[in-house]
Amino acid sequence: MDKIVVTGNGPLQGTIPIAGAKNACLTLMPATLLSEEPLTLTNAPRLSDIRTMTQLLQSLGCEVTSLQDGQVIAMSSHDITSHTAHYDIVRKMRASILVLGPMLARLGQAVVSLPGGCAIGARPVDLHLRALEALGAEMDLREGYVHATAPGGLKGGVIEFPFVSVGATENALMAATLAKGTTVIRNAAREPEIVDLAVCLRKMGARIEGEGTSTITIEGVDRLQGATHPVVTDRIELGTYMLAPAICGGEVECLGGRIDLVGAFCEKLHEAGVDVVETERGLKVRRRGDAIRAVDVTTEPFPGFPTDLQAQMMALLCTADGVSVLEEKIFENRFMHAPELVRMGARIDVHGGTATVTGVKTLKGAPVMATDLRASVSLILAGLAAEGETVVSRVYHLDRGYEHVVRKLSGVGAKIERVRDE
Ligand code: UD1
Repeated sequence: MDKIVVTGNGPLQGTIPIAGAKNACLTLMPATLLSEEPLTLTNAPRLSDIRTMTQLLQSLGCEVTSLQDGQVIAMSSHDITSHTAHYDIVRKMRASILVLGPMLARLGQAVVSLPGGCAIGARPVDLHLRALEALGAEMDLREGYVHATAPGGLKGGVIEFPFVSVGATENALMAATLAKGTTVIRNAAREPEIVDLAVCLRKMGARIEGEGTSTITIEGVDRLQGATHPVVTDRIELGTYMLAPAICGGEVECLGGRIDLVGAFCEKLHEAGVDVVETERGLKVRRRGDAIRAVDVTTEPFPGFPTDLQAQMMALLCTADGVSVLEEKIFENRFMHAPELVRMGARIDVHGGTATVTGVKTLKGAPVMATDLRASVSLILAGLAAEGETVVSRVYHLDRGYEHVVRKLSGVGAKIERVRDE
């Protein structure tokens, strides 16, 4: 297993290209199941989660071809040969549940393994199932699998989510495109990845209104056609790399970045003493003075502060002037990076969903362990600013969501390398 070795070495300078969004790509790929015609995605990120979704779609009989070094994914679901998403693949990645809605809508049946536990909390899929039931599906849970049927096809209906779920909104949106009649989704997620999905589905001929607001209306159509669609910029990768110059000093331009993707995050950076300027090519980030100021952060559904940037923000606040309070409102048990940061000299107290971070002058390099995707990159960010060497192990978490992390950070002057574990 590989490790990443980071040595703190001062200000960063230069540009970092931001890839297409993992989370958008993971919902755009299953959209291929909705049509007999080809769907091609451009600006796709090169990540292990994308390879897992590729395997899952191939196991259903879809043709999935990776072109231009993985940046283009050409898919065809002309001949779907199976309607079962097996545990072997689903257990690797929760987003596998996103094949359920499209398969059910196109084939009238789908069998999908339940994803099971996850390191950042229980993460059930009840909202996905309830939403599809509202469209007339029948669900039967047997031996760890959801057996979903809609013999006469799905029918439009009203879906009212008790709280916001990105994945359940995506499943419902995709399924409703082929349901008979009108579907209204209330309390829908408003994330940019939902908007991107709706834009792509509309290119395929779907009739959708209201994406990006909390009410989405879908008029079902008989069939969808093929399309080509560029994946939206990854706002989480963007926010992560924006934190690099915030933590180390210097000035970095994140190519492809847009303020509207990271508005709440930029407000917190500004409060902490970091300037963000929109340029023609992206977002330029620079720390205003020497010290970072403490800020309080609460994670919320979009347009609030994203839970997927909480761990990285904590890395910044470890050396801030004063006490910061971080409240995690989306997932229970999402502070597993805190004890690792403490091993680097940070002062963090966690009580339930609240972490109190008391800024220290400097962090010190240490061997640390990545526990999940965002936690792993927060340890790399902390290592960039720490005195001495930080060795991050279990980097397979990182490969799920960050392409070429070593190349991107060393390109702006960071001392970082990937080494083989003996
Ligand atoms: C997506 C993102 C993930 C991000 C999260 C929140 C993808 C592939 N992943 O995950 O990176 O952290 O949004 O922005 O896009 N819940 C239920 N029942 C359900 C579904 C969700 O109780 O049926 C709960 C979850 O446990 C969680 C909350 O709802 O506490 C929000 O989860 P959700 O928005 O569904 O996250 P994902 O779509 O899984």
